[in-house]
Formats: sequence, C-alpha cells, structure tokens
Amino acid sequence: MTTMNILYISIEGNTRAFLHQMQEFAKQQNILNPTNPLINLKEIGPQDTPAHESAPFFVFVPTYLTGGNGIDSGYTEIMTNALGEYIEDGDNAKFCIGVVGSGNRNFNEQYCLTARKYAHIFDAPFLDNYELRGTSADVERIYNVLAQNWAKVAGE
Ligand SMILES: Cc1cc2nc3c(=O)[nH]c(=O)nc-3n(C[C@H](O)[C@H](O)[C@H](O)COP(=O)(O)O)c2cc1C
Repeated sequence: MTTMNILYISIEGNTRAFLHQMQEFAKQQNILNPTNPLINLKEIGPQDTPAHESAPFFVFVPTYLTGGNGIDSGYTEIMTNALGEYIEDGDNAKFCIGVVGSGNRNFNEQYCLTARKYAHIFDAPFLDNYELRGTSADVERIYNVLAQNWAKVAGE
C-alpha cells in the first residue's frame, strides 16, 4: 500500500489548502523514492451522510468550538460534526489510525481541542498539529509522521 488515505473536513478552506499542498509534496517525494507514499484525499462535506470505509485512514480536523474555556466549563463542537459522525458510523472508527489537528493558538486551551477529543473517543493517536494553513515545514514534518505510521499498518 503506497497510497495513504486521509479523511478531512474544511469549512473555510485552510485544511483543504494544507492537504493539497501535502498531496503535491507526496508526489515529489514519491518520484524521488517510490517507497514514499502518495496521498489519497477524501473531503467530508458538512451535509454528507457517512459511507463505510474498508481501509486504514488518517483524519485531519480543524477546530470550531463555541462556549466553555476548554478546561472545566464544557464546550460545543460546531461545523465539523459531520466528520465525527462519519468516523462513528458502522466500523469506520476501527480504520482510523491517527488524528492531526489544526486551529489557531489565539484560542489558548481550546487550540486543536476537537482533534484531541477525536483521538480520545476513536482510540487513535493524536499525531501532530499545525496552525491555520500551516507552513511548508509543517507539510514536510507531518508527511513524515504519517508515512512512518502508515508503514506500520502497511507492513513496509
Ligand atoms: C467560529 C470559529 C471558531 C473557532 N474555534 C477555534 C477553537 O476553539 N480552537 C482553535 O484552535 N481554533 C479555532 N478556530 C480556528 C480554526 O480552527 C482555523 O481557522 C482553521 O484553520 C479552520 O480550518 P478550515 O479553513 O479548514 O475550516 C475557530 C474559527 C472560527 C471561525
């Protein structure tokens, strides 16, 4: 398996832009060395109904919360719920092998909280995080983290 699967949601386009950049980076890496995996992206729209997954995937989720302070006063996930419902559906969560979060550090304790919550409830590692559209250094670092984790499930 030399193609890694990624499920994501993107309300304002930052996550989509980051992942398209990572997909291009993967193509370059794959040309340099064919054992470097390519990336298959699947965007979950806010109105999409879940489909059943049958292969391992990573999840990229931005953070949209309302209320609470992230520590002790509760908070509510908004905008991104369709992705959580997608992973929850059927056996999909069994195929989730890691979660990457994004957000904005101005939200302090609530930074990337949705990804941390998903990692907990879907029993998958919280692999990494980046802010907004990320940087090229984020793309490279996170690609390498994913590739290492993918090799474990792909037996490479
Ligand atoms: C209404 C709203 C609430 C947000 N809440 C949080 C938050 O609680 N924590 C955080 O880290 N980022 C928060 N963000 C920042 C977004 O997660 C960030 O802009 C992200 O890059 C959006 O990704 P997208 O463009 O793919 O939808 C919020 C943004 C908006 C517009």
